[in-house]
Amino acid sequence: MKQIDVVNHILGNRPRAPQKPEASAFAPSNIALCKYWGKRNDELNLPITPSLSISLGTLGTHTTVSLNPAKDVIILNDRPVPERSRFAKSAVTYLNLFRPTPDTFFLVRTRNSVPTAAGVASSASGFAALALALNDFFGWNLERKDLSILARLGSGSACRSVYEGFVEWHAGADADGMDCYAEQMEETWPDLRLGLVSVSTAPKDVGSRSAMKRTRRTSALYESWPIKVSHDMALIKEAIRSGNFELLGKVAESNALAMHATAISAWPPILFWLPESVAVMRKIWEQREGGLEAYFTMDAGPNVKLLFLAKDTARVEAAFPGLEITTPFPESATAA
Ligand code: PMV
Repeated sequence: MKQIDVVNHILGNRPRAPQKPEASAFAPSNIALCKYWGKRNDELNLPITPSLSISLGTLGTHTTVSLNPAKDVIILNDRPVPERSRFAKSAVTYLNLFRPTPDTFFLVRTRNSVPTAAGVASSASGFAALALALNDFFGWNLERKDLSILARLGSGSACRSVYEGFVEWHAGADADGMDCYAEQMEETWPDLRLGLVSVSTAPKDVGSRSAMKRTRRTSALYESWPIKVSHDMALIKEAIRSGNFELLGKVAESNALAMHATAISAWPPILFWLPESVAVMRKIWEQREGGLEAYFTMDAGPNVKLLFLAKDTARVEAAFPGLEITTPFPESATAA
């Protein structure tokens, strides 16, 4: 099964020509509390396990799509992206799935509201915003579940970024991945805060795509990962339902460390941490010894994300100067 077959299946006889001059959409970034790590199908980004994330409120990607003569042009934060860059290539590959004719080209203007120095991947919100903008541009009127599947074809974690709040990504079992999509959980947690500690903004040595593959193939610890995830998914859901922050923090931190343990034990080893990342982890453990309720999670890079509650904001800021704080459930979004 190819990506294009999934697209054809989802679109059916929906329009393949734009229905308006341009269309825009926003999608939030998301951070997994229980990580997606390892695929059962590389082409379709089908994961081995489910995962659970929290979207970052107003931090994410705004994207506008229109047609362009002669070639695709991708503008990121007001600057054209070089055609040969990895960013442009992956956007063009994704757009190939939706081109009405081989000589129809797109202008994609995209803007990240995540500070580029914050160390939060923009590919999830980027592909989600692009899928949402294309849905409006072509007038498909797809339901969220199908938009989640389309976003997944760009990058796995993007399927969680078509929603706000807590989001569960079902691993599914079907070969075509039609049962592999994300869904929003109904619970909210307005007091929850996420702090972004930027350790480095340099491009990573190994991207998440190849790191997952290598880990799955070579790490002896990988076979324990699905078992860990099934426990952690249940515990995180319980923590969210009962508002148990200690449980949420503990499980999220332990899940991230377990993911990194599988990567470290791959061959050749993959260590995403820099000395500064370890210093931040130790500082959190120290602060926790001193009574501060703060936990961390980390993705496929050296930056550290802190989880804490609104009441501890001043203490966390004092311990981690320069921290970028985000509110996953902003007042406006949770008022209803
Ligand atoms: O969607 P990708 O290919 O960028 O992979 C994301 C993997 C992690 O960020 C490490 C975990 C996750 O669940 O987001």
